[in-house]
Amino acid sequence: MRYAEVYERAKADPNTFWMEAAEGIDWFTGPSKALFDENAPLYEWFADGTLNGCWNAVDRHVAAGHGDRLAIIHDSPLTGTTHKITYAELQARVASLAGALRAKGVEKGDRVIIYMPMVPEALEAMLACARLGAVHSVVFGGFAANELAVRIDDCEPKCIIAASCGIEPGRVVHYKPLLDGALEIASHSPEFCVIFQREQEVAHLEEGRDVDWHAFQYGVEPADCVPVEGNHPAYILYTSGTTGQPKGVVRHTGGHLVALNWSMRNLYDMNPGEVFWAASDVGWVVGHSYICYAPLTFGCTTIVFEGKPVGTPDAGTFWRVIEDHGVKCLFTAPTAFRAIKRDDPQGALIGDYDLSSLQTLFLAGERADPDTIEWAQAKLGVPVIDHWWQTETGWCIAGNPLGIEKLPVKIGSPSVPMPGYDVQILDEGGHPMPAGELGAIAVRLPLPPGTLPTLWKAEDRFRKSYLTQFPGYYETGDAGMIDADGYLYIMARTDDVINVAGHRLSTGGMEEVLASHPDVAECAVIGVADSLKGQLPMGFLCLNKGAETPPEQVVKDCVKLVRDRIGPVAAFKLAVVVDRLPKTRSGKILRATMVKIADGEEFKLPATIDDPAILDEIRAALGQLGYPLAAAS
Ligand code: COA
Ligand code: AMP
Repeated sequence: MRYAEVYERAKADPNTFWMEAAEGIDWFTGPSKALFDENAPLYEWFADGTLNGCWNAVDRHVAAGHGDRLAIIHDSPLTGTTHKITYAELQARVASLAGALRAKGVEKGDRVIIYMPMVPEALEAMLACARLGAVHSVVFGGFAANELAVRIDDCEPKCIIAASCGIEPGRVVHYKPLLDGALEIASHSPEFCVIFQREQEVAHLEEGRDVDWHAFQYGVEPADCVPVEGNHPAYILYTSGTTGQPKGVVRHTGGHLVALNWSMRNLYDMNPGEVFWAASDVGWVVGHSYICYAPLTFGCTTIVFEGKPVGTPDAGTFWRVIEDHGVKCLFTAPTAFRAIKRDDPQGALIGDYDLSSLQTLFLAGERADPDTIEWAQAKLGVPVIDHWWQTETGWCIAGNPLGIEKLPVKIGSPSVPMPGYDVQILDEGGHPMPAGELGAIAVRLPLPPGTLPTLWKAEDRFRKSYLTQFPGYYETGDAGMIDADGYLYIMARTDDVINVAGHRLSTGGMEEVLASHPDVAECAVIGVADSLKGQLPMGFLCLNKGAETPPEQVVKDCVKLVRDRIGPVAAFKLAVVVDRLPKTRSGKILRATMVKIADGEEFKLPATIDDPAILDEIRAALGQLGYPLAAAS
């Protein structure tokens, strides 16, 4: 069947389409139907079936005789080690961990925070939760203690599973002290913490609260898989919104597994037993879906890579991993390829490796710039597929479904909507726009299986953030257009979210941190173009009258403040003191205009600007930071 037919079938009869897809998953009791629309505009999928996420990702493959197949390959250039785990070994490890968690009281529905680097134990912790029906919430290691504390207070975990440390090039990240710091800040206290001690840094365990990962599993009864309902939350994953309070995206078990399993063959063109590598991090949605649940549920081998595209040890690392493990499909963020291209512009290192196993490269997480796509295509000689998705959707909204039909690639476009996504471009009043015109990208409800049903303990915020602006639609927060062939183009966010090295960050959240500096009266953070990371945050600070700290010191303090409160991942290093911020007459800060000036782009003077002279001051301040960069002007 061709893409257009598959897409139309899903649109005409979603129940039949997704019930067929649900056959790819093992159910204890099958669902009576796919879509539950009784509470529209809130929708659920497969709500009355029962299943288990860990059974589907692990046990069923062992039961089918594939216990000797590799489930996980941990490849860590940062520690110089490789560790291969078969499905049978994974089953034993996860059942034991789940048994130990249960012995300490973790049950179906309890929340468990996981704060771990790229080690296989991170996936084992996720799967052990799934085995018990506990709801995991993985927190990315590049966040500071305060961000961890916010998540602890929001999801109130019974237990936190953490590693003693993570490893970044040139430094050890002290996870355990970060966790201890977070627990001091948070109002909620978990009943216990499980600490996975890594040899690079052994952490102090707090008696009565912390238990050792290995020791607490000693002598426990391994746990079996607990049946959960199709609409039971598998996990909560926090993502940046417009404020410092992150949004807890909820993922239901049934739809999530059905959609991910469907995508492995139809989108990524994989077969069970083949090797899939998502070079991301378990702390992000790509890691949840395509390092952990999708490849394992589909019976592939997944790679857990602890390293960077460059510098660990060089820009040939990705090629070495592909050769060593026979990777068929690589999925990463364009920024990783920009980093490789910067270090090895001719792609000379590619010639040192046998990349014959590699058949496709998928890119997502941020806009894929044509230069990067063309470079990758030319150097690797495989299709380079841009695809668009969000933490909220959990899987691809628009892509090129290689397993169904390889559609012509249009560089600059992530191609076409996946089955179940009715993507529309709307004007401000919510009216569909003609082909080729720019507007807000919205998806007609219901969204397909696997997408968010709500936000954790925040249904009102869910409705306000996504369903209110355009009734009957999900508002994506992205702006773009659809061309006459139905190809989508993603141009920009419509909110205060920026994308730094494929990491989604809130400028609003950074502004909240800057505003807490005693000398800062007012501030604005914008995202400026960066040739490596896509965007970088840049802060403008107006100081209180009579502030005694020298402006250079305030800038230094603010950079440190963001690193300490949000984390190094925010990459907040550019800030400048200004007298005033450009505003409209009604007092709205003209951030978009500031971005245009910083990027050296043409712009129209906003009709509502209060005092155009301020723009010259902004220009001068940007000049101090070296902006606009020569390449952008
Ligand atoms: N734990 C602790 N700190 C972390 C971290 C983690 N898991 N991940 C990143 N950091 C830190 C880095 O050490 C760095 O700190 P520094 O300011 O002290 O140098 C900071 O956060 C920014 O990190 P990063 O964005 O990774 O920038 P970088 O300059 O170290 O590397 C790239 C640049 C392009 C190589 C890197 O961003 C990259 O590999 N990107 C791919 C991103 C990706 O896979 N995204 C997932 C979406 S699919
Ligand atoms: P995240 O929730 O971290 O996955 O970030 C989602 C956001 O990243 C989207 O709303 C887009 O703004 C951006 N994004 C993700 N994939 C793409 C893509 N292929 N092209 C353009 N932007 C993308």
